Amino acid sequence: MRSNADLSIRDATGDDMSSVTAIYARHVLTGMATFEVDPPGEAEMHSRWFKMVGAGWPYLVAVRGGEVIGYAYAAQFRDRAAYRHTGEMSIYLSLDHVRQGIGRLLLEALIERARDAGFRQLIGVISDGEASGSIALHRACGFETVGLLRNVGEKFGRLIDVVFMQRAI
Ligand SMILES: CC(C)(COP(=O)(O)OP(=O)(O)OC[C@H]1O[C@@H](n2cnc3c(N)ncnc32)[C@H](O)[C@@H]1OP(=O)(O)O)[C@@H](O)C(=O)NCCC(=O)NCCS
Repeated sequence: MRSNADLSIRDATGDDMSSVTAIYARHVLTGMATFEVDPPGEAEMHSRWFKMVGAGWPYLVAVRGGEVIGYAYAAQFRDRAAYRHTGEMSIYLSLDHVRQGIGRLLLEALIERARDAGFRQLIGVISDGEASGSIALHRACGFETVGLLRNVGEKFGRLIDVVFMQRAI
C-alpha cells in the first residue's frame, strides 16, 4: 500500500466494484477513452476483476477519505501465450478528481505491481489521448509512442484514433 497525504493506493477488493462500476460508467457514457458504449453493470465489473486477480494480474484502487476515486489494472495484452510478458494497462479516475497528480501515483504503483506480476513490456492503448490527458500521463511515466491507428473507433458521431504507447519494465 502507498500513501500520499490522505490518498491511499491498495489492491482492489470485490467490495470496491460498486464504486469502480460508477466511475467507469461515467467514462463510458461521456468520454472517448473507452470504446464501450453501454456501461457494464456491477456483476460484469466484478467478474472482470475476479478474472484478472485470478490470473495474478494487478488491480489497484486509489482511495481518499474512504471513497474509491480511481482504479487501474494491467492484464495480458492479448490472450495468446507468447504475449504472457506483455501487459496492457487501463486507468480511470473519477472525473471530480482529475489533474491532482492521482493518475500518476496510481500508474506508478501499477507499473511496480505489473513488474512483480511478471510483465516485461507494458502497453497503453489510448484513444483520444491528448484530450483525455492519457498521453501526457503515460509520457510522464516513461512511455513512448510506438504506433497510431487512424479512425478505428466511432463514438458520439466522431471517428477516433488509437495511440499505442510502450515502456519496458
Ligand atoms: C488520464 C487520467 C487517468 C489522468 O489522471 P490525472 O490524475 O488527471 O493525471 P495527473 O494529474 O496525475 O497528471 C499526470 C501528468 O499528465 C498531465 N495531464 C493530465 N491530464 C492532462 C490533460 N487533460 N491535458 C494535458 N496534460 C495532462 C499532467 O500535467 C501530469 O504531467 P506532469 O506530472 O509532467 O505534470 C485521467 O484524466 C482520466 O481518468 N481520464 C479519462 C480516462 C482515460 O483516458 N484513461 C486512460 C485509458 S488507458
